[in-house]
Amino acid sequence: MSRKVLIATEKPFASEAVGQIREIIEKAGYELSLLEKYTEKKELLDAVSRADALIIRSDKVDAEVLNAAENLKVVVRAGAGYDNIDCAAAKEKGIVAMNTPGQNSNAVAELVFAMMLYRARNFLTPKAGSELRMKTIGIHAYGNVGHYVAQIAKGFGMTVLAYDPFVKKEVMEKGGVTPVGSAEELYEKSDYISLHLPKMKETMGFVNEKLLQRMKKNAVLVNTARKEVVNEEDLQKALKERPDLSYLSDIAPDCAEALLSEYPGRVWFTPKKMGAQTNEANINAGVAAARQIVAYFEKGDTTFQVNK
Ligand code: 3PG
Repeated sequence: MSRKVLIATEKPFASEAVGQIREIIEKAGYELSLLEKYTEKKELLDAVSRADALIIRSDKVDAEVLNAAENLKVVVRAGAGYDNIDCAAAKEKGIVAMNTPGQNSNAVAELVFAMMLYRARNFLTPKAGSELRMKTIGIHAYGNVGHYVAQIAKGFGMTVLAYDPFVKKEVMEKGGVTPVGSAEELYEKSDYISLHLPKMKETMGFVNEKLLQRMKKNAVLVNTARKEVVNEEDLQKALKERPDLSYLSDIAPDCAEALLSEYPGRVWFTPKKMGAQTNEANINAGVAAARQIVAYFEKGDTTFQVNK
């Protein structure tokens, strides 16, 4: 019996990406099925019951989903952050969880600049705005997205600082980035701060009052990472106490409505998380996921496993 691969995406891939995934899966002699734009968890629970492999995006794969997936051997998060997979539960059931690091990073990095320019030009209104050139950007966590942000920022003529205790100074310097020794220093020196922290228990609420209060005058905080890395209570307090600060995010906080009504012109959120939503990123991440599944079944390749 041929292997069954399910793409389960509440936020679908571009159709070209699905076409390319299908080609890889069918060439390997497997079957592909699609569950897109589902609204009920039950739809996912039904669909996974027949799958040997699963491709997802931000779709939540918790213990209940894993239990319903009786034949599942591998789940690939087509993207970077895998905080939506219960990796421990998967490991316990012998299911390999993977991600596709770097494949959608440029798309997210470009959105950072769309958001910064949107703010700098007063949300595209005629009032005199400001320029990015000669300003300082602070990259908080220098992974794949941070790296692309740095490269684009240099094109804009910005000074680029980064803070990441897990990345060697030399790696940043090689990319033309100035490393700083602490998050505090980053927040004090930057006109724009771009967040790229993964969601982990250590990073939840990491951007707290202590950091927010250190932000430079008129600074803008841009979040294309995860809403949970910013402490919402502290954010509300900082926006209240510091009328010069702005917050723009690709992942609306729980308190979005209150912020939008209290601080119009200083906060903005995308209607739906869209950092990785480009044709190119969908193709890169989707194709990588499909290839990883085939390599796993055919050769036992676990290079991108995240729950070893
Ligand atoms: C990621 O972790 O890769 C990004 O947050 C993109 O998520 P998405 O695939 O749900 O758009």
